[in-house]
Amino acid sequence: MATSHSRTDVAIALEDRYGARIYRPLDVVLERGDGCWVFDAEGRRYLDCLSAYSAANFGHSNPLLVAAAAEQMGKIALTSRAFRNAELPGFLQALCTTFGFEMALPMNTGAEAVETAIKAARKWAYEVKRVPAESAEIIVCGNNFHGRTIAVVGFSSEPAYRRSFGPFAPGFKTVPYGDADGLRGAMSERTAAFLVEPIQGEAGVIVPPDGFLRQALEACRERRALFIADEIQTGLGRTGELLACDHEGVRPDIAVVGKSLGGGLYPVSAVLAAREILGLFQPGDHGSTFAGNPLAAAIGRAVLQLLEDGELLARVKARGRRLVTALEGFASPIVREVRGRGLMIGIELTTPARPVCERLARAGVLCKETHGTVLRLTPPLTLDGETAEWLLARLATALEA
Ligand SMILES: Cc1ncc(COP(=O)(O)O)c(C=O)c1O
Repeated sequence: MATSHSRTDVAIALEDRYGARIYRPLDVVLERGDGCWVFDAEGRRYLDCLSAYSAANFGHSNPLLVAAAAEQMGKIALTSRAFRNAELPGFLQALCTTFGFEMALPMNTGAEAVETAIKAARKWAYEVKRVPAESAEIIVCGNNFHGRTIAVVGFSSEPAYRRSFGPFAPGFKTVPYGDADGLRGAMSERTAAFLVEPIQGEAGVIVPPDGFLRQALEACRERRALFIADEIQTGLGRTGELLACDHEGVRPDIAVVGKSLGGGLYPVSAVLAAREILGLFQPGDHGSTFAGNPLAAAIGRAVLQLLEDGELLARVKARGRRLVTALEGFASPIVREVRGRGLMIGIELTTPARPVCERLARAGVLCKETHGTVLRLTPPLTLDGETAEWLLARLATALEA
């Protein structure tokens, strides 16, 4: 995609010379974004169908969010929580009223928020459920993705995430995703919580069988364990509901949100739960220099305002339906299955997805493969109808071969 010694070549050479190669990016060097579109160093325009792994759900450089951030940066951005700040209370209130929880605990990245939820669940298990000391168990699902910290990769089933990083933290058990009986069988009086993605994103947009979330919640109720929904990727409208658990009317005991809570501008995550759980934390138990800072709070609050009237959610549902129906109608020899909810769509191919992503990039569409053969389609939620049709035309061509 680059001419020799172009700005693209120079940027790639520098990055590869000085940076640890933890990703295998497509070789486009993005310089600017505007809504659903991004522009590379050569001035070429692409439709962003990854949205920074669903962290840029409201489009790039969303003017309302940029204005909120700029205004707050001009006042004060960082205080630490050694002092109170004027933005945090309103943000906490907005988080609780938007999602229907009693308390919120802000963090920065998704993995940090998952770690925080695990700490909260263990604390609840010891101090409320009275699980014997140091023996609490958290049950997770096969093929999960909850981030990259040592504790979190320790309960991943993906060899590449774990290889050469052990030893790992004990206290985690794995059951197959979508298997409520398996979950029941794995539970004991030492079970603190079940941690689950309502749709597995990194695993390839895997939607569990209908009723699984509800059955898992019932199992948690029977064994007095907490149901923790990792809504970092699925939350804030990505699937057409505020939380993906809402599709089954399931209210988790703990919900973890992140990614687009920062509006594509800044890392903002949060753990949401009842007072009985988050109220257990005492000063000194947990912390983060950056979490809950006024800039994060101002951006997070502006993000929640974008979701307030439900109009965006309705649009996501309609747009998602149109894309899935059209994709299912493609007579492509390489499409095995189309799945997803709202604007979280996975196209399972019979062939490797990477060459299709490269073909799409040349046609002005940025997608990223996941798990080899899945093309993930997660455009900004602000995608308009005309652009959706433009995208479908390009997908039809790219999937022909
Ligand atoms: C479901 C889920 N949980 C946790 C994370 C980790 O978030 P972060 O990369 O912000 O640490 C991700 C990121 O992709 C995710 O999809």
